[in-house]
Amino acid sequence: MKPKIIVTRDIPDEVESKLKQYFRVSFNREDKVFSNDILEKAMENADGIVCTVTDNITEKLLTLPNKKVKIIANIGVGVDHIDLQSAKQNNVIITNTPDVLTEATVDIATLLLLSVTRNAFLMETMLRQGEWKGFSLTENLGVGVRGKTLGLVGMGRIGKAFGKRAHEVFGMKVLYYNRSPVTDLKFEASVRFDLDALLEESDVISLHLSSDKGNKNFISKSRMKKIRPSSFLINTSRGDVIDQMALIDLLEKKKLAGAGLDVFLNEPNVPLRLRRLSNVTLYPHIGSATHETRTKMGMLAVENLIAFFNEKKVINQL
Ligand code: DGY
Repeated sequence: MKPKIIVTRDIPDEVESKLKQYFRVSFNREDKVFSNDILEKAMENADGIVCTVTDNITEKLLTLPNKKVKIIANIGVGVDHIDLQSAKQNNVIITNTPDVLTEATVDIATLLLLSVTRNAFLMETMLRQGEWKGFSLTENLGVGVRGKTLGLVGMGRIGKAFGKRAHEVFGMKVLYYNRSPVTDLKFEASVRFDLDALLEESDVISLHLSSDKGNKNFISKSRMKKIRPSSFLINTSRGDVIDQMALIDLLEKKKLAGAGLDVFLNEPNVPLRLRRLSNVTLYPHIGSATHETRTKMGMLAVENLIAFFNEKKVINQL
């Protein structure tokens, strides 16, 4: 009999068809986030689960006495919503979907970079509200990025790809901070071993930290004091890598020129104080949200399941 797979959220049609070829599958047609109770039942009834960032795969789920699940294939690269240690201790394989979403996420980081430096949100809002008084040589001016310094915090796949694009396409000087040495750089960039130095020197700081628990509040309130008031901050990684309240304080007090954010603490709840600000561009976690990328991510998750149930090497095992 084919293995039983439970899919926690709606997935692209092509991915659904592929899953059906190999497995007995139960889908979530309503696309509502599963409650803990439903997740518990899924853990007890399925051989494998396809999940994503909105599912909290806790120690409690991974240690259920009647757990049947042997593999959880996450659609997404970040796995901060899965207790990896407990998964390992309880023999549940976890996979993710790196690489296929890198360029799409860099597209969103690029949109945020240009939007905040050119004041795009405020400009468009002003126009839509009928407040545009006409062309001016001295008003509505933003900041050009060419020749400016981009400071990358975290130099994994997405950090590298964004740095490359910012340098090669936008002529930015690139600095980076990374915990481990970075060896295979394909563009000109300078390392800063001292994070504070990078924060002080950068005109735009972009966060590309992995979603490890150790990165929680990595950009803390005291660290943020190193950032110059004329600088901008971009975050496409996870909302909890920065102290969100301290960030809002800085933005309100104009101690930071602007922020472009695609990720937030406790999504989808974005504080009103942040939503009210005009010097921010806010996107609803859409880094990988293109039809093409989501299909590739889903297909990769399915490939991981197929490999596992055929006792082949699982491609993206964590
Ligand atoms: C990712 O891949 O980590 C995206 O943020 C969606 O989870």
